[in-house]
Amino acid sequence: MTGNTMRHFRWVGAWSLVFLVACGADNGAAPGSANAEPAPGDAGTNAAVPVTVPVPSELTPAPLPYCAGDSDAIEQKITELLGVLSVEQKAGLMHGAGLDTLNGVWRVEGIAELGIAGFRMLDGPRGLSQISGKSGTVFPVAMLRGATWNPGLERSVGEAIARELWSAGADVLLAPTINLLRHPRWGRAQETYSEDPHHMAELAMAFVRGVQSQKVLASAKHYAVNSIENTRHSVSVDIDERTLREIYLPHFRRAVQEAQLASIMSAYNRVNGSYCDLNRHLLTDILKDDWAFQGFVESDWVLGTHGDADSVLAGLDLEMPTGANFGQLETRVLAGELDESELDDSVRRLLRAQFCYDLEREHPVDDVSARATPEHLALARRVARQGMVLLRNQGAALPLDEGLDLVVLGRVAEVENIGDTGSSAVLPAGHVVTALEGLQERFTSLTHIPQIEGKTSLSAAERATVSGADAVIFVTGSLAEDEGEATVGAGDRDSLQLPASEVALLTQVADLHERVIVVVEAGAAITMPWAENVEGIVFAFYPGQEGGRALADLLSGDASPRGRLPFSIPLSEADLPPFDNVSEKVTYGYLHGYRHLLSQGTPAQYPFGFGLGYGEVGYGPLTISGDRASSDGVLVAELEISNPGPRQMVETVQLYLTAIGSRVTRSPRELKAFAQVEVPAMDVTRVTLELPLRSLAFYDVDAGQWEVEAIEYEVRAAKHAEDPGVTAKLRVQ
Ligand code: GLC
Repeated sequence: MTGNTMRHFRWVGAWSLVFLVACGADNGAAPGSANAEPAPGDAGTNAAVPVTVPVPSELTPAPLPYCAGDSDAIEQKITELLGVLSVEQKAGLMHGAGLDTLNGVWRVEGIAELGIAGFRMLDGPRGLSQISGKSGTVFPVAMLRGATWNPGLERSVGEAIARELWSAGADVLLAPTINLLRHPRWGRAQETYSEDPHHMAELAMAFVRGVQSQKVLASAKHYAVNSIENTRHSVSVDIDERTLREIYLPHFRRAVQEAQLASIMSAYNRVNGSYCDLNRHLLTDILKDDWAFQGFVESDWVLGTHGDADSVLAGLDLEMPTGANFGQLETRVLAGELDESELDDSVRRLLRAQFCYDLEREHPVDDVSARATPEHLALARRVARQGMVLLRNQGAALPLDEGLDLVVLGRVAEVENIGDTGSSAVLPAGHVVTALEGLQERFTSLTHIPQIEGKTSLSAAERATVSGADAVIFVTGSLAEDEGEATVGAGDRDSLQLPASEVALLTQVADLHERVIVVVEAGAAITMPWAENVEGIVFAFYPGQEGGRALADLLSGDASPRGRLPFSIPLSEADLPPFDNVSEKVTYGYLHGYRHLLSQGTPAQYPFGFGLGYGEVGYGPLTISGDRASSDGVLVAELEISNPGPRQMVETVQLYLTAIGSRVTRSPRELKAFAQVEVPAMDVTRVTLELPLRSLAFYDVDAGQWEVEAIEYEVRAAKHAEDPGVTAKLRVQ
C-alpha cells in the first residue's frame, strides 16, 4: 500500500473511532427545548409558509439573489412540497446518510419520486478529497494562493476544483476554509488564505464564484472563529462583539452577500461558551437575519452537532455526516417539543439549494478525463509561481544563471511536500514534482546531498562539495508530520522555528558559502533568526504537485517572483499574541498579525504584504477623489508605478487606512483595498483603487449598528503593512 493509500485508510479509520465515541457518549444535548404549544392551525395542516426574504440590515451593496434561476418558481415549488412532505420525510432531508461515503461521496439522501436529489459532498480547499478514493490535481494550498493576491487566478482554481469534484460524482465542495489566521502555529493555517479580513474576503469570494460557476455548491467553513486545532472540539473562544463582527466575520459576510455563497459549515468549537451549532447569535441573529443568508448551514463532521431541536432552533439546517442527533427530530415534532415550521425553514433552505443548482441533473460517477488535465496542471504551476514569495535577495543571489554548478540539500528537497494529511488532502493524479526534481529538470549541473533526518553536520567530502559549488539551494521547512488538522493530521505546530538539526546544518552551509538560497515550504510563518546569514530566501508554502517546476521557473529567472506575504513573519514568536492550544477557554483580542505588531511598535522580520521581485518599482504621488467625502461614497485613489529596470514587474499596491482621532480602538493601519498591476520594463503604469467608504465603519456594540466616523483618515498606498508608501488625507463628513 503506498503512503498515499495508507493515508486514505488511516483517515477513515480515525473517523470511525471518533464516531463510536460520539454515538456512545452522552453528548449532553438537552432534549428539544421548544415546549411552545403548536400554534392553532399548525398541527398537520402544513399550510403554505409565506415566503419572506429578510432584507440584510448590514453593510451590503444591493443584495444579490441566492439563485441564478427563477427564484419565484423555485420558492413556490418548495411551498407545495412542504405541504405534502411528512414530518418523517422533512427530518430525513436534514441529515447525512452515514459516516461512510457511498460511491466515494458523503450522501444526503433525497426523495427521487418527488424530484428531490439530496446532496453529494466532498472536500476540499486544495482539490478533490482523497476520501473519494479517486485521484485529482494537487493544487497549491490556499495560503500560497493567498500570497498570489490574485482573485482572478483564484477564481480559476475554484472552477478547476469544482470540475474535478463533479467528475467524481459530488456536487457540494466543502471549501473554502476561511478562518482568519490569528496565529501561525494553527495546524490548518495552510488551508486558509490570510491573517487579514479584507484580503481573505477577496480571495474567498473569487473562489466561491469560481466553484459555483460550475453549478457546484461551495460550503465556506468553519463558522466561526475556528483557528486552534488541538482543542477544536471543546474550546470556547471568548470574543467581544466588535472583534467578532469587524475582524472574524467580514469575509464570511461578504462571501454570503457579494458572492452568493450557497452553504456554510458551522465549526466544532464554542464561541462565548456556546457550541457553534447551538449558537443562535451566530447562526440566526447574524447570519440569517442581519446578513439575510438564504443558503443552508451544515454541521462539521460527527462531533459538530450537539443537539437536535436545540440546534435546529439555533439555526443549524443539516447534520453531517449522520443522523446521530437529527434522527430524533421527528420524535420531537410528534411529541410537540419542536414546531414543524422550524423544520420547514431548514427544508426550504436545503431544497432551495438543490433546485437552484439543478442537482437532479445527470451526475457522473467517475470521469477520470476531467482530472489532472494539462490545463489543470499548468494552472497549478502558474499559481505556485505567482504565490511563492521572494523574501531576501542579497547581492542578486537570484536568479541563477545557466551552467552554474549547484548543490541542493535540506530535509524537504526530495519530499512530496503537498500539505497535511487531514480532510483537505488530495490523492495526487500523476507525479508530484519535488523541489529537487524541478531543479534537476531545469539545471544541468546539480549535485544533491541527501538529508538524513536529524543530521546536523556535513562530512568532509560534503563540505568540499558545498565549497566547490557556484551556489547552494537549501530546501527546508515543515512537513505533514509537523502541522495539520487535528485527529486526522498532525495538529497545531509546537514552534515557529525550523528543527534545531536543520538550523545547525543550514548554519554550517552558510558559513561555508557566500551564495546560499533557502527555500522554505510551510503553511505559515517560520521564524528566521538565520536570515542575515544567507543571501536568498523564498517562501514556497506547500506548492502542489507542480511546485518543483514552479520553483525552478523562479530560481532560473524564467519567471519573476511576484508573491506577497498573506501573513506577518515576526522576528520572534514572543512578538505575537500568545497561542493557547491547551486551555478549554481562550480570549481573542481585537488585534493580531500586522495589526498587533504595528500597535506594539514591533517590526516584523517580513511584514504582511511583503515580497520582492527581480527589480524595484517606485510609487508616484497618491491622488484621491477629493479630500472630503460622505460615508456612503466611494473613494478613488490613483498613483503611478514606475519600473526603471529591464524586466517587466508585477506590483501589488495595497491601500491602508488609518483613522485619526477615532473614539474606539482601531488598528494603526487597516488594509481596505489592493490592486495588482503589470509594469513593463522602463515604463510607468497608472493604477486606480476604489474604496467604498462604508468599509471604514466600526461596529458600535451599544447601538447595534455600524458607523463610519466623520473624522479624518490617512490613506496610504504601500508595498506592505510597514511601508511608509505614499499618503493623502481624507475627511469623511
Ligand atoms: C472535518 C473538517 C472539515 C471537513 C469535514 C469533512 O473534521 O473539520 O473541514 O470538511 O471534516 O471531511
